[in-house]
Amino acid sequence: MEKEILFSKEAIAGRVRELAAEISRDCAGRELVVIGILKGAFVFMADLIRQLQVPCVVDFTQLASYGSGTVSSGSIVIKKDIGIGIEGKDVLVVEDIVDTGLTLDFLVRTLRERRPRSLKVCVFLDKRMRRKVPFTADYTGFAIDDGFVVGYGLDCNEQDRSLPEVYVIKE
Ligand code: IMP
Repeated sequence: MEKEILFSKEAIAGRVRELAAEISRDCAGRELVVIGILKGAFVFMADLIRQLQVPCVVDFTQLASYGSGTVSSGSIVIKKDIGIGIEGKDVLVVEDIVDTGLTLDFLVRTLRERRPRSLKVCVFLDKRMRRKVPFTADYTGFAIDDGFVVGYGLDCNEQDRSLPEVYVIKE
């Protein structure tokens, strides 16, 4: 599959530093529970937490969406739950990309029921034009146009997660 570079290692590192600085400012004096959504978020989350100036504990959740191929269908279930209680805690959910918004809308509603003190969402990429439900992240790395992207944790059929840059797949 042919692909074209969208964000270089340097562009990604610069933006991750800015996001971490913004989150650290907003959350000064608090300890964060950082929750990554498997699998795609693990690379971004690893870079982000190492730049945070506030203490954090980390956990992961994995969701499954019943649909085919590259589109989520809307029916989402928790495949792996977090192991940490979040009641009264300051939570930061970290995700690789928000597309239709269905995944994060579901997860945020689910986690809010557990009554965290605060809950914010940080996404690396945002395909704003493709929303099926309204969803706005508190922190966004880059807004991108429609098109399928891989690298920096993002995959296409499990391929290309390990690429250090972000690429858009050409039709
Ligand atoms: P949403 O529920 O439609 O917002 O979907 C979010 C999920 O879809 C992400 O966690 C990704 O797993 C996947 N996804 C959406 N767009 C892309 C893409 O361009 N590349 C890789 N995965 C994507």
